[in-house]
Amino acid sequence: MMNFSLKYLNLLKTKFEGLNLTRILDEQEFYDKQILDSILPYEQCEEFKNLIESRKLVVDVGFGGGFPILPLAHHLPKIRFIGFESRMKKVEAVNVIAAELGLPNAKTYHQRIEDVLIDRPCVVTFKAVGTVTDFLKKLNVSKKDVGIFFYKGPSFAEKEQGEFEKTLSKEWELFVNFQLKVPGTEERRIIGFRPINVPRGTSKNLVKLSDIF
Ligand SMILES: C[S@@+](CC[C@H](N)C(=O)[O-])C[C@H]1O[C@@H](n2cnc3c(N)ncnc32)[C@H](O)[C@@H]1O
Repeated sequence: MMNFSLKYLNLLKTKFEGLNLTRILDEQEFYDKQILDSILPYEQCEEFKNLIESRKLVVDVGFGGGFPILPLAHHLPKIRFIGFESRMKKVEAVNVIAAELGLPNAKTYHQRIEDVLIDRPCVVTFKAVGTVTDFLKKLNVSKKDVGIFFYKGPSFAEKEQGEFEKTLSKEWELFVNFQLKVPGTEERRIIGFRPINVPRGTSKNLVKLSDIF
């Protein structure tokens, strides 16, 4: 995994310098805060791991410079990964990085998540992308067997959980709230939600996940 990390960081520092795909440029810090932080929820949280293994499809939203999609795709070569990101330049860069790192199981698309219909069983991930309440409201889901996971720091318990309970707890069940051990980082958690009622938000003209994969 360290070799993968060094190769990845080298691409970000050379070919894609100037795109600001990560602000972390120190080798050990990049390994801890981007690579390990991306894959340790799978290694440490049983529910997250079991859902990924049974759904076999992970949809990563707002991957920026490729996190967690690319470290997870490297770690789990038999799982299919699809990324949606609203900034075109990041999508183009991450598709090239995925090819250079030898990750045929990861493909990324220029698409806002609010324009996508999640109509296949899958696991959806968000890392450092907005708040739980904002993004759960944006999701269009037609299948019940979908798990939505947010990689979070202390902000969830401190600021976001109350807002979620006030506004969305009748629509989404919070079913995972797991504290992780990630070297070099303060409190990290993986928080999982599943829809209580489906379909939700399916009336618009949406890009179907099933048309992509
Ligand atoms: C702070 S970055 C996080 C990047 C990466 N997940 C990480 O952990 O390093 C948030 C990213 O989410 C993308 N984004 C924001 N809103 C989005 C939306 N509605 N749909 C898809 N991507 C979105 C932004 O363009 C940005 O690249």
